[in-house]
Amino acid sequence: MEKSVDTITRIRKAMGDKLAILGHHYQSDDVIEHTDIRGDSLELSRKINGLDAEHIVFCGVYFMAESAAILQRPNQKIHIPDVNATCPMADMAEAGRVEKTLDILQSNGRKVIPLTYVNSSAAVKGVVGRYDGSVCTSANAPVMLEWALSQGDAVLFLPDKHLARNTANTLNVPEDKRIVLSDDVIEGDPQLFVDPSKTDDKQLIIWPGYCPIHEEFTMDAITEIRANEPDAKIVVHPECNPDVVKASDGHGSTTYLIKYAAEAPAGSVIYIGTEENLVSRLAKQYEGEKTIKPLTFSQCEDMGKITVDNLAALLENIENATPVDVSEDIKAPAKLSLERMLEVCS
Ligand code: 13P
Ligand code: SF4
Repeated sequence: MEKSVDTITRIRKAMGDKLAILGHHYQSDDVIEHTDIRGDSLELSRKINGLDAEHIVFCGVYFMAESAAILQRPNQKIHIPDVNATCPMADMAEAGRVEKTLDILQSNGRKVIPLTYVNSSAAVKGVVGRYDGSVCTSANAPVMLEWALSQGDAVLFLPDKHLARNTANTLNVPEDKRIVLSDDVIEGDPQLFVDPSKTDDKQLIIWPGYCPIHEEFTMDAITEIRANEPDAKIVVHPECNPDVVKASDGHGSTTYLIKYAAEAPAGSVIYIGTEENLVSRLAKQYEGEKTIKPLTFSQCEDMGKITVDNLAALLENIENATPVDVSEDIKAPAKLSLERMLEVCS
């Protein structure tokens, strides 16, 4: 690892402004140390357009690098140190099935606006762009859902059922106006599993995907903390189950969780329900001042695929590396969907 650290330091110095390394908050400390910009998904996608660097390295999962490749300028190249770092939740919505589902939902003449969480493939964002929809992140989901509801008769929110329901709770969308599609639509033919007669009185139609890492945070963990440490605070990411979110003291994006830890008074005990790398970084940062603990230990294996070694290997070969590529037919509508979000949230 030491050799890789030296390589990264040497190449960053030699390339100067030609290189920008971006990292998501869930990256390990070893990797985060070498990033120029860190952020949550929204902040990172906002940064792409303002970057002058010719080479942009994205330390995160593949959909994040793809979003950067959609928004990049013509002379820029986007790289990811390991193309196998994918997001299991993003993989739960396949573009062909999403498009077929939209066609079925609209077959009775209703205008259904798709709203995809940024944790989705470029191909899904392309479909969403073509069907007049947009993208949201955990930081702006309520604003974007409100926007989407105002654009048609109903919204298809995908892929995260928990973020969808938590956001609907924030906006007070009535329970009887929502429906979660059958789990079978993740892998099966929507023609067999989507029934427009069950969705045509709904305002919010929800894709059944979820994040396996945030699924680990349970009511049992919260009940135990409330019983044993009544003064402790619990904050969670909105990819958690709605019961967990309701029982917590607050919920929001990774940036929200970081801000909550920063603003808590000295002496606070805070349990955080999100990916372990971020929680342990905050615990170290506030050691001796505040006690920060994971609600449950839960690590994202895919985020962990980015290492100092594969970052060094990429940088050594960066002039010849194959950049992340999004085909032109997908890029244009996908860009439209992302730009709608950036515009609504500007
Ligand atoms: P944020 O948008 O809060 O950074 O979260 C991204 C993510 O992948 C959470 O699992
Ligand atoms: Fe995907 Fe969950 Fe990992 Fe975030 S934490 S990248 S949603 S699997």
